[in-house]
Amino acid sequence: MMADDQILHGVPPSLSAAVVGSFAYLTVRDRLPTILTKVIDTIHRNKNKFFEEYGEEGIQAEKQAISLLSKLRNEMQTDKPMLALTDGLQDSESWNQYLQRQQRLQGDQEPVSWFKSPWLYVECYMYRRIHEAVWLNPPINNYDVFNEGKTQSFFESQQAVMALCTYLQEVSKNMEELSKNQLCEHFNKLLQVSLWGNKCDLSISAGQENSQKTSPIESLDSLQPFILVDDSNMVWSTLTSAERSGEVEETATGRVDIVLDNAGFELVTDLVLADFLVSSGLVREVHFHGKSLPWFVSDVTARDFQWTIKQAMAANHRWMSKCGAQWQRYMKEGVWVYHDHPFWTLPHEFCDMAAGAPDLYAALSEADLLLFKGDLNYRKLTGDRDWQHTVGFQTALRGFGPAPLCSLRTLKANVQVGLQPGQGEKLASLNPDWMTCGQYAVVQFFSLKSEQT
Ligand code: F6P
Ligand code: MG
Repeated sequence: MMADDQILHGVPPSLSAAVVGSFAYLTVRDRLPTILTKVIDTIHRNKNKFFEEYGEEGIQAEKQAISLLSKLRNEMQTDKPMLALTDGLQDSESWNQYLQRQQRLQGDQEPVSWFKSPWLYVECYMYRRIHEAVWLNPPINNYDVFNEGKTQSFFESQQAVMALCTYLQEVSKNMEELSKNQLCEHFNKLLQVSLWGNKCDLSISAGQENSQKTSPIESLDSLQPFILVDDSNMVWSTLTSAERSGEVEETATGRVDIVLDNAGFELVTDLVLADFLVSSGLVREVHFHGKSLPWFVSDVTARDFQWTIKQAMAANHRWMSKCGAQWQRYMKEGVWVYHDHPFWTLPHEFCDMAAGAPDLYAALSEADLLLFKGDLNYRKLTGDRDWQHTVGFQTALRGFGPAPLCSLRTLKANVQVGLQPGQGEKLASLNPDWMTCGQYAVVQFFSLKSEQT
């Protein structure tokens, strides 16, 4: 870790696979090639399906895509220089400029390569290159190589999804009679369910099945000690701030934006939370932000979002299908809005958003509360840097703060800020892998408004 005085003069370095034995190193050496191999297998396994749909052309496309992906795996494993993108898609210019900037920063002697560059960049780049390999090969260019895994993880968590939808329906039945305290209690529960939903991503498990099997509400008490930073009271007061400033209780805060992470069970937990926010009258609108290309194995795309709502509607379970129908109505009525923006699938830290994607920054500023789901969003919030654990969240955000924001994240990468002195050391002595094992979590809040008052 860096010393405080060094941090004052700049920011700590990016995490990188250059540090042999680090989590970033092990990821680039082992986990990313495993993910790539699974992608290749998936495409190959679907050969017959491509043939049935597109004939010989489909087979040719499958072969070409596999050849590009095998080349990519070889480049990664032999630490070759990163290459410019060639697919001419809307974001390819930004990627290529980023590479040039990275090259300037590193100096011309050493090429920007897989094991020598910032981990965040390298990992994002791999997913973008997977997209390129598929996109360059019509007619299979719209194929989502992660779709099977996402679908499977949704079906494997059916029991937990039903339990959650049932809970929501029970709460909704008596919503009008609930006191503020009871409302707050339910809110905290659903916030935590959404938090722990983040355990179920398929990137940390390199695509291995990792779904929620038990009732999510019942496990909350036993999980509480694993929440390292819990700012949920600040989230609650942000939601109910209209009341505090003396306005009438019916004035809903307005708008909450959820920057989504994974499909499957996690997405359902986010939808249930969003439903509660609206049906309780706490919020008028919820805006969701997903990915515009298949990303980090299990991240939500527009297709996953619509599919999940449809699946819920069609479920053979009274409360689940009721939830699905309600979610569909919210979408139709514009109470819920789904967005995607190319910035979410660029390798940038979020402190670059205001300059790099001013339209997105302005859109997020319209929200009264931003919920950032998951580990990758946390890495981007904090720049994926080697921060000391006691550095404040605000410092690590480096000026990013379009609206009051909260990260709901289970720890799967070795960056964590905002801890108490000694807390990191204590955790390390209990479990050396505390930052990457996915067992700990944070509900970490920041608002410029509370800094100014
Ligand atoms: O650490 C494992 C990892 O794949 C990271 O590379 C990435 O940040 C994270 O998991 C993805 O997790 P999440 O889905 O929570 O963003
Ligand atoms: Mg994810």
